[in-house]
Amino acid sequence: MRRRAISISITAALLVFLAVAVAERENKTASLGAFWSSAKEEGSATVQEEEERHLDGGFSTLEGMLQWSIGHSDPKKLKEAALDIDRLSAEELKQRQMEIKELMEKLKMPSDAELMKISINDLNNLSLSLDDRRRALQELLILVEPIDNANELHKLGGLTAVIKDLNNSNTEIRTISAWILGKASQNNPFVQNQILELGTLAKLMEMAHSECVEEATKALYAISALIRNNLEGQQLFYKEAGDLMLQTILSNSSIDIRLHRKSIFLLADLVECQLQSGSDVELPFFSNHILLKSVVDLMASADLDLQEKALYAVKRLLMLRSTDALVLKEICELDLALGRMKQQLQQLTLDDNFKEFAVDTENLRKEVELIFLGKLEKAKQAST
Ligand SMILES: *[C@@H]1O[C@H](CO)[C@@H](O)[C@H](O)[C@H]1NC(C)=O
Ligand SMILES: *[C@@H]1O[C@H](CO)[C@@H](O)[C@H](O)[C@H]1NC(C)=O
Ligand SMILES: *[C@@H]1O[C@H](CO)[C@@H](O)[C@H](O)[C@H]1NC(C)=O
Ligand SMILES: *[C@@H]1O[C@H](CO)[C@@H](O)[C@H](O)[C@H]1NC(C)=O
Repeated sequence: MRRRAISISITAALLVFLAVAVAERENKTASLGAFWSSAKEEGSATVQEEEERHLDGGFSTLEGMLQWSIGHSDPKKLKEAALDIDRLSAEELKQRQMEIKELMEKLKMPSDAELMKISINDLNNLSLSLDDRRRALQELLILVEPIDNANELHKLGGLTAVIKDLNNSNTEIRTISAWILGKASQNNPFVQNQILELGTLAKLMEMAHSECVEEATKALYAISALIRNNLEGQQLFYKEAGDLMLQTILSNSSIDIRLHRKSIFLLADLVECQLQSGSDVELPFFSNHILLKSVVDLMASADLDLQEKALYAVKRLLMLRSTDALVLKEICELDLALGRMKQQLQQLTLDDNFKEFAVDTENLRKEVELIFLGKLEKAKQAST
């Protein structure tokens, strides 16, 4: 099975090389664009996917395919193939493309389920080398992206195998395993529940405190994906002291920015869920002074994206009934933070690269200010 996967992947790599070479010869942007859209999965990106793509520097199907193929191919052969392609005329290239297409049809590309089985089989092989284990996980990471594949994962024994690797002594192996769980459960209640039932949340939360930033980031990503719009998952999260986890991360100013981004994103998501539930009982966590102060302080982050996320989270928090505007003013100094942000955004509009961002964020900032002042006014009236 493995050998067959290898020969097919060489072909896949060749195809990618061909596509890129053709794109370079003809019209770079146009052809590459066409290749991109055909290589990408259908369906529009969700906020969380945007988030993930942003944080991970653009992991895409094309890139994944290249990585996967190259990982399975002989680098020397690939190089030769690339050189060969360089020498071909447009006519010959087209011919070559046809040949490869025919070859692929003849070879009968294995189904994704078959490929997943190969990877899972490898993961269950205790004598597998670390490199091979990493590669098997990376393959799964790509394979679980389409929702149909994610839905098959547990049936094939994949979830159990991946969850076992959360216990691996190698950090990188644990990190990719968490990443797979996040990717498979993203916007997928079926897989969310499967993973939650396997009791993985506590382990992931432990990993979110890892000293390795990469591991902590991927664990947080997986936690977010697991409990997003999933009330049972959120109950489990609070039961495992997830609120404290978020507070610990958000209030520590020396923690990596990626962790702050993920945490603030998750917080805004949880508040949103609370708002949508329409429940009168609001979690005391959301009015915790330390938490509120941390979020307001992050509005002054050097990272613009984090600033905006913090601002958005403040807006969500202000919409809760239990949020005390006086606390936000006197303890968190939200008025000062909003003032500073206004000045900074004015500066930023002068820079063409940031103008659009600055205008959008200023609109959001104004909105937050209005809600805040309105709430403050109400609180003052109530106290006099
Ligand atoms: C080639 O790309 C340029 C943009 O870089 C575009 O303006 C032009 O229309 C394209 N030509 C063709 C034939 O697609
Ligand atoms: C397990 O991995 C070892 C080392 O890669 C390999 O020799 C062996 O054939 C594998 N066993 C199975 C059942 O795949
Ligand atoms: C991981 O290790 C912990 C403690 O060593 C153990 O309780 C747990 O069952 C292990 N989980 C898996 C899936 O192997
Ligand atoms: C804050 O985070 C840093 C970096 O992860 C860590 O070394 C430090 O112990 C944390 N501080 C607290 C008070 O948790």
